[in-house]
Amino acid sequence: MTTPDPASSQTRPLDVIVLAAGAGTRMKSDLPKVLHPVAGRPMVGWAVKAAQDLGARSIVVVTGHGAERVEAALGGEGVAFARQDQQLGTGHAFLCGAEGLSGDGDVLVLYGDTPLLSEATLRDLLADHRAEGSAMTVLTGELPDATGYGRIIRGAGGEVERIVEEKAASAEEKAVREFNSGVYVMDRRAPELARRIGNDNAAQEYYLTDLLELYRAEGGAVRAFKLSDPDEVMGANDRRQLADAETVMRRRITQNLMKEGVTIQAPDTVRIEDTVQISRDVLLEPGVILTGQTVIESGAVIGAYSVVGDSRIGAGAIIKPHSVLESAEVGAGADVGPFARLRPGTVLGEGVHIGNFVETKNARLDRGVKAGHLAYLGDVTIGTETNVGAGTIVANFDGVNKHQSSVGAGVFIGSNSTLIAPRSVGDAAFIAAGSAVHEDVPEGAMAVARGKQRNVEGWSRRYWGGLREKVDVKLPWLSGWLKKG
Ligand code: UD1
Ligand code: CA
Repeated sequence: MTTPDPASSQTRPLDVIVLAAGAGTRMKSDLPKVLHPVAGRPMVGWAVKAAQDLGARSIVVVTGHGAERVEAALGGEGVAFARQDQQLGTGHAFLCGAEGLSGDGDVLVLYGDTPLLSEATLRDLLADHRAEGSAMTVLTGELPDATGYGRIIRGAGGEVERIVEEKAASAEEKAVREFNSGVYVMDRRAPELARRIGNDNAAQEYYLTDLLELYRAEGGAVRAFKLSDPDEVMGANDRRQLADAETVMRRRITQNLMKEGVTIQAPDTVRIEDTVQISRDVLLEPGVILTGQTVIESGAVIGAYSVVGDSRIGAGAIIKPHSVLESAEVGAGADVGPFARLRPGTVLGEGVHIGNFVETKNARLDRGVKAGHLAYLGDVTIGTETNVGAGTIVANFDGVNKHQSSVGAGVFIGSNSTLIAPRSVGDAAFIAAGSAVHEDVPEGAMAVARGKQRNVEGWSRRYWGGLREKVDVKLPWLSGWLKKG
């Protein structure tokens, strides 16, 4: 056995093998188990992210059940795949993944279904492995009842001797509280030694856990590194455990954010993906959902039950309750909602005001634009300080194509107007309420585009008079008015 050089061990390359070929039948799902999302990221994606964060030189994901879908989901993450066509056990899966390794680094094994394992824990595991000069380090945990897990069997001197699977454990071994997490870091001999793993056991599976004894037979030091929080290796095998994992992850994310100076009024009610960036002094009201590449700048408020995905919210902006934003940008100091819907391509400048029941899509609203009530603004640019009246509709679709419109700065659009696209309205123009604007409006002009009003004197009395009996019964005030005349 060669004594590892502690200096170089710190810089030894790290290769990671993620085992993700298992069926996951308990999930009762058409989706492969490892693709079920936790906090928005597929479980196997968490393992890959942990490996990336550790600075792994190479990452191999072993796929089998639903291989195409798993590989497609991880495409572009810079990982390699190894197919395990038959699930013959963890030892066999490991060998499939180890085939292409260059054989000069440490090897870390992760599972595709334990999303809660933190980068910090893995760093501690690696540091311990390297500092101790171990051949193999098993990440273990302790539970009052470790049913289902392989148990860690230690010798008289406390040294790790072997791992016994639940199925093969004696009553005495079942009482052992220290369990195998399935995560190991091993020196470069691992692929070589793993070839000697047999399937001479009740399940006729190739057990990766047998590696431990193979290392010991070679005189390699095998140690355990005990997790402080066994939740970290909690596997999500069914929907209930998936929800538990989600809860733990959500709590982890909200606690980090609060530590960084974000106020979260009801942390157990919000769902925030770990890809979201939030600055200090942001306030999140109850029930908020924040996903994807969302960025929220300091002092912004996200109102109750709002859903914000892939959006950027500027400093001090206020999103009022029940608003839904998707791939939108909200300028500093803007206010949006309640009940607003900003769809992809919406860009709101500083101080823009969007009120209730306003929908925007592919719309640029410059500084100070106000659209307070009930509007649809699609495929349009609107200049600074323009006022968009209640009920304004940009009719961007002609039944076949979408058309682009532009409205200048300082325009006043009267309530309930329709701009029939493609339309251009010049700066400082006025549009009379209720207009159906079907021609461009020049700068500074006033457009009236509606039928001319005609008042027909005495018409009501003639109309209702003919219906007198019915009015008497149903409309007492009107009936009195008719009688007075
Ligand atoms: C394994 C360990 C057990 C440990 C437990 C922790 C062995 C023999 N036992 O048990 O000591 O306590 O994990 O959860 O290793 N997989 C493949 N191909 C296969 C078999 C499994 O890719 O042929 C993958 C699965 O997708 C999963 C992981 O390996 O991600 C673990 O497999 P699983 O069947 O859950 O292992 P256990 O029998 O529970
Ligand atoms: Ca398992």
